[in-house]
Amino acid sequence: MLFEPITLRDTTIRNRMWVPPMCQYSAEKQDGIPTSWHLMHYGAFARGGAGLVTVEASAVAPEGRISPQCLGIWNEEQAQAFSPITELIHSQGARAAIQLAHAGRKASTYRSWPGVPEGSVPIEEGGWQTVAPSPVAFEGLAEPRELSVDQIHELVAAFARAARRAVDAGFDIVEIHGAHGYLAHEFLSPASNRRTDEYGGTMANRARFLLQIVDAVRAEVSVPIIVRLSGTEWTPEGYSLEEMIDLCTWLGTAGVDFLSISTAGNIPGVSIPVGPGYQVPVAQALREGSHMPVGAVGLIVDPAQAEQIVALGQADVVYLGREMLRDQNFPIRAARQLRYPEPYIPSQYARAF
Ligand SMILES: Cc1cc2nc3c(=O)[nH]c(=O)nc-3n(C[C@H](O)[C@H](O)[C@H](O)COP(=O)(O)O)c2cc1C
Repeated sequence: MLFEPITLRDTTIRNRMWVPPMCQYSAEKQDGIPTSWHLMHYGAFARGGAGLVTVEASAVAPEGRISPQCLGIWNEEQAQAFSPITELIHSQGARAAIQLAHAGRKASTYRSWPGVPEGSVPIEEGGWQTVAPSPVAFEGLAEPRELSVDQIHELVAAFARAARRAVDAGFDIVEIHGAHGYLAHEFLSPASNRRTDEYGGTMANRARFLLQIVDAVRAEVSVPIIVRLSGTEWTPEGYSLEEMIDLCTWLGTAGVDFLSISTAGNIPGVSIPVGPGYQVPVAQALREGSHMPVGAVGLIVDPAQAEQIVALGQADVVYLGREMLRDQNFPIRAARQLRYPEPYIPSQYARAF
């Protein structure tokens, strides 16, 4: 099943082993422009056999970067610098997606690298004032400023413009980041959204920002849209499974083609039952509740485990994050281990296999 192609709209992806977005914090000039590191990094996944390679969280506005070294796609210069990456991914038979993101109250942090301090980067050091649905800080980070309705509308438009640039740069699929405690998730969660206007209160109101982004992106581009969600916050303080099933259904109606189901990120200190495939049951529950195709992620590290998740219908696709950092050839290894006859071995490397 891992090697069964899957089609979203008109886009066929060669297999069901996909790479999720993973920040590299490597735009050293702090201009959001991808570098030769990114070209090498993303090309290696495609060469190793991944079906879909998702480029890391790329900000739709400068203040939407997680760290000053994160990528951006808020201007044309950035967009053009993604073209060699999509060309390289395509040359290896894979499809390219990009995660369009705004980090909200979790923006302007130090990059998550060994030996680097944690927390907010002060404005004097190149950080910036963060924004959020409500002026509620994420523990350990600076307090955000509440977004006005006009500013919300401007950000919705920024997502649509970024989607247009992404497609022009050759991306086959756009992913909207609605997970991990970043801006869209901050709207979705009652723990971070205290608004009393049409963007706060009921799930229909809390989902308005994300749904408006989807509408704007859908009106701008015809490629498949993936939305990444934190399927659960692992605490009753967060949203409920029923609310998330409703949200997934609304997203499907709005023209979203696929859901990438992660968990958590908005409420610190919750207890998460981390173990092999620990987020798979959440993906499965949302798949069954909403009838949307989903990808599962999180400690999926073994070909037989990955095959089982797809074969049992727990998810349509598996995303392999850190395992692909350890071994970009995971899909080739899986093919050999599962005795699939046509692994993705480039002719240049044939004598090695
Ligand atoms: C270095 C690193 C960077 C990450 N950056 C992002 C990101 O940009 N966007 C996102 O949605 N998730 C991000 N994640 C989360 C991964 O996409 C994935 O959900 C997580 O690593 C769990 O999957 P795994 O156990 O297969 O690694 C990141 C994870 C890592 C390890």
